[in-house]
Amino acid sequence: MKDILSAQEPIDIQKWHVSNFSADDCNPQEARRALEEEYWPITEITDRFNRQSVSYQLSKKDSLHRWLKYKEGFSADLVKTLLDDFHLQKNAVVADPFMGSGTTALVALMNGYDSLGFDILPMSGIAIKAKTTVYEYSLTELQHLLEEIASAEVPAYYAGTTPEIAITKDGYPTETSRALAYYRQYFMHSDYSDEAKTLLELCTLNSLERISYSAKDGQYLRWDRRCPKMIAAAEARKKTGRKPAAVKLDKGKLPTLKEALCEELRSVIEDIRYFQQDDTKAFEAQSRFIEGSALFELPKIADNTIDAVISSPPYCNRYDYTRTYALELAYMGITEQGIRQLRQNLLSCTVENKPKTEELKAFYRNIGREAYYERIMHTIQKNKTLQEINLALKQRSENGEINNKGVPRMVDGYFRELTFLFAELHRTCRPGAYVAFVNDNVRYAGEVIPVDYLTTQLAEQVGFTPVKIYTLRQQKGNSSQQMKKYGRVALRKSITIWRK
Ligand SMILES: C[S@@+](CC[C@H](N)C(=O)[O-])C[C@H]1O[C@@H](n2cnc3c(N)ncnc32)[C@H](O)[C@@H]1O
Repeated sequence: MKDILSAQEPIDIQKWHVSNFSADDCNPQEARRALEEEYWPITEITDRFNRQSVSYQLSKKDSLHRWLKYKEGFSADLVKTLLDDFHLQKNAVVADPFMGSGTTALVALMNGYDSLGFDILPMSGIAIKAKTTVYEYSLTELQHLLEEIASAEVPAYYAGTTPEIAITKDGYPTETSRALAYYRQYFMHSDYSDEAKTLLELCTLNSLERISYSAKDGQYLRWDRRCPKMIAAAEARKKTGRKPAAVKLDKGKLPTLKEALCEELRSVIEDIRYFQQDDTKAFEAQSRFIEGSALFELPKIADNTIDAVISSPPYCNRYDYTRTYALELAYMGITEQGIRQLRQNLLSCTVENKPKTEELKAFYRNIGREAYYERIMHTIQKNKTLQEINLALKQRSENGEINNKGVPRMVDGYFRELTFLFAELHRTCRPGAYVAFVNDNVRYAGEVIPVDYLTTQLAEQVGFTPVKIYTLRQQKGNSSQQMKKYGRVALRKSITIWRK
């Protein structure tokens, strides 16, 4: 609590400390209140971590972190601060079960630690491969690649187009779609080194949104009014006498693939040149990325092999990564069926997610650890806070206050799956290892879900010792709908620290 006491401006603790978890006292809240009292003493309202401020002024060394455009990433500063706090030995292994763009892995590597990362999205693999070879690129080769792209023309006879799925249909102007397919085929079958090809793939992924008719907007992909599917939809409405829906998005002149790629490539070449100026010839530490669900991959990792974990899971907020990154996934050849599977593989964070308990049961049976599965299930079932939240959401849903039946299922699945993950982290971490998770609290239909404290409680139940819960001064905003109906409430953004 020292930070609270030393802060300059007076602090109204009630802004962070929650006393009412169920609007209008609609549902029991004893378990959540008890939890609030239990972990408040180790909570510190802090300025040490501030995601907004650190993401703007990146130093040149930090430029590498931006190589995959990934809005959900946390800052390199946050990882560095935590690594410094953890006082790791040389050759320590730093893990991130939800690797995203690879911030943890890269900062670990830059500080001489090995890294182990998991993610279900194939872009993560491309990003970490491209970044970790920053010292190995041949600038001459990349310059040649840049020149060849600048002069490449798609032959008139070429009839290929880039793959699309329902949500990305008509996503690019026809010429751009042809160019994407042609460049991919041409350059991937060329004699360029694997490193150069991976870098080109990354630059292409980063260009897709700009050259398309779409724009990422929070949970959704919005579409430009010139996009053929928007024109067709407006026509269809007109034919049935309805007014066309108001489509405001107009992205202006879209760059061609060639223009966007050259710009991306020039920028990364500049970063590479900067990195290669110093004496470092390669990262000394090793990075390992496993493409797949951490829920099913972490159980394959040996006991007592991880020295620290710095991670941020998907938040329990219905955010669907497979929708936001639909253009990128479709470009990489993932089919409709593949996207559906990826969505299901996500830690339950969307209303489409179905329970994974049967799949986990079969998995643990297959690897001969059924008793372990039963133990974790028992831990989950006896958690009073989760029981209270589940009942409260069920009640709100039955009252018609939750517009989607998938919400209660998502919340339950989210904490169940995280408990499995925490148990596996406890098994794979060495004694003394620190674990840090960044997460946001959420609220559904007036019911506050203290994600920071509940995850800490579940982690404690599987063996971790809670050390500290840093909570940021800035909080998560309440949605205007919730505010109007249920009033304002503190929704913390926290970094929970536990120790094995
Ligand atoms: C909040 S982002 C992590 C961002 C990361 N800290 C960074 O700096 O880029 C969460 C990530 O978890 C991944 N994810 C979701 N479910 C997963 C699962 N079951 N196993 C592994 N990764 C998963 C998502 O694809 C997403 O990249």
